Amino acid sequence: MDRWKTMLVLQLVFYAVNASSYERDGFYNLRIDCGASTETPAPGKYNSDVPWRTDEKFIQTGENKLLPTSHTDFQMNTLRSFPKGQKSCYTLPFYRADYKFLFRAGFYYGNYDGLSKPPSFRLEIDGTSWADVTTSMSEEMIYHELLYITKKAQARVCLIRTMDNIDVPFISSLEAYNIDVAYDWMDNTTALYLHSRINYGANTSIEQRMNYDAEPYYRIWKSKEMSNYRNIHADSMRFDYMIGENRPPFPVMGFAIQARNLTDSIYLSIDFSPRTSVQAYFVLYFMDPVFRVPQNQTSSVEIYIDSNERAVTDIPNYNSLFGNQFHVVTLFSVPVNGSANVTISPAEGSTLAPLLNAMEVFSAIDVSESGHLFNLSSLLFITSLHLLVILMTQLF
Ligand SMILES: *[C@@H]1O[C@H](CO)[C@@H](O)[C@H](O)[C@H]1NC(C)=O
Ligand SMILES: *[C@@H]1O[C@H](CO)[C@@H](O)[C@H](O)[C@H]1NC(C)=O
Ligand SMILES: *[C@@H]1O[C@H](CO)[C@@H](O)[C@H](O)[C@H]1NC(C)=O
Ligand SMILES: *[C@@H]1O[C@H](CO)[C@@H](O)[C@H](O)[C@H]1NC(C)=O
Ligand SMILES: *[C@@H]1O[C@H](CO)[C@@H](O)[C@H](O)[C@H]1NC(C)=O
Repeated sequence: MDRWKTMLVLQLVFYAVNASSYERDGFYNLRIDCGASTETPAPGKYNSDVPWRTDEKFIQTGENKLLPTSHTDFQMNTLRSFPKGQKSCYTLPFYRADYKFLFRAGFYYGNYDGLSKPPSFRLEIDGTSWADVTTSMSEEMIYHELLYITKKAQARVCLIRTMDNIDVPFISSLEAYNIDVAYDWMDNTTALYLHSRINYGANTSIEQRMNYDAEPYYRIWKSKEMSNYRNIHADSMRFDYMIGENRPPFPVMGFAIQARNLTDSIYLSIDFSPRTSVQAYFVLYFMDPVFRVPQNQTSSVEIYIDSNERAVTDIPNYNSLFGNQFHVVTLFSVPVNGSANVTISPAEGSTLAPLLNAMEVFSAIDVSESGHLFNLSSLLFITSLHLLVILMTQLF
């Protein structure tokens, strides 16, 4: 009889576990101001704008800390630290399984413990290593971002002490945004770790974190002017996003760097160190933001990576036709050893010097292994169902 009881309890546990992973009230977008004691509404004007939630619903361990000095970026003012345990995890419940998300974890040490010893630790998602986090005394938030298709209707984000040190992990913010209709070419065997996302030609007065009106995916675009190129921009700036591939914000497409001469190229060096050998993904955005006279000029470029030609594209003019045309060129996967040289050269027949508005660079992380784990848990579920049927037939 005791054996039956044990089996019955086991069945119930199996069902509880499976039911919780398909929670009905899951989120579509979620952002957590870790360690905060109150929720902060989003400032935007749309309902779909995402509030900053407190973290107690998503994690059971850790301690809330308030930083000694107040920062204008309020998410940085509090954090949750994990002095106990090897591994501390957030469970993020989503609306459904098989959704593509942009995950971003933020870390701001701010000497909260008064020790002036910024810790290092590891960040994981669903059992896959996401990043080695090295915090610092710097005044800037450190972000680690990942594009990833969840396998279940939830994701587990864990902070892990690394074996050889006693550093205490912490986290300041955790964000997850649904990006299902962007980055179309992604599949569920590969997650993409963000290396850089740059708004070329824009100076630092341009917001890097834009509101929902301009940035429906809450991406952070780092502004970068380059003195060896022309830094050009649209005559009038709009604060909305472009309709089309990946929905780039207008304040990103409205800026660009352009070679000074028609026959010159744009050279960009991407340094992946300390990661040496990576499969890189490049997403380049093109639109000439400047009104040109005469209007019959054509602009097109050839794109090279490490002197291999990878693509040719036209660059639409913002003022042509309906003023909302742009081209996105995605190159993957490109094997890279330490660094890559991206060269944008004028294509034959182009009457304008080459330009570039923005570029995102990712490196691939294989997540097909944790797909394996998922299959294992489905197998357990089916096995438990099977056992239940046997149990029922024995009981009744
Ligand atoms: C940024 O650009 C604006 C508008 O062109 C200009 O007023 C401002 O001085 C620039 N800021 C810097 C730091 O270059
Ligand atoms: C652009 O080309 C002109 C004429 O070929 C040359 O005089 C000038 O120095 C070039 N400018 C740059 C920045 O290379
Ligand atoms: C573009 O237009 C200008 C004047 O409007 C004309 O002189 C020139 O030949 C045209 N160029 C092309 C490539 O059609
Ligand atoms: C990139 O360009 C620099 C300068 O031309 C060169 O030294 C380096 O070897 C190039 N790197 C690769 C990976 O081709
Ligand atoms: C991955 O995607 C494929 C095709 O879209 C689907 O058949 C498969 O079930 C997905 N795998 C997981 C683990 O979600």
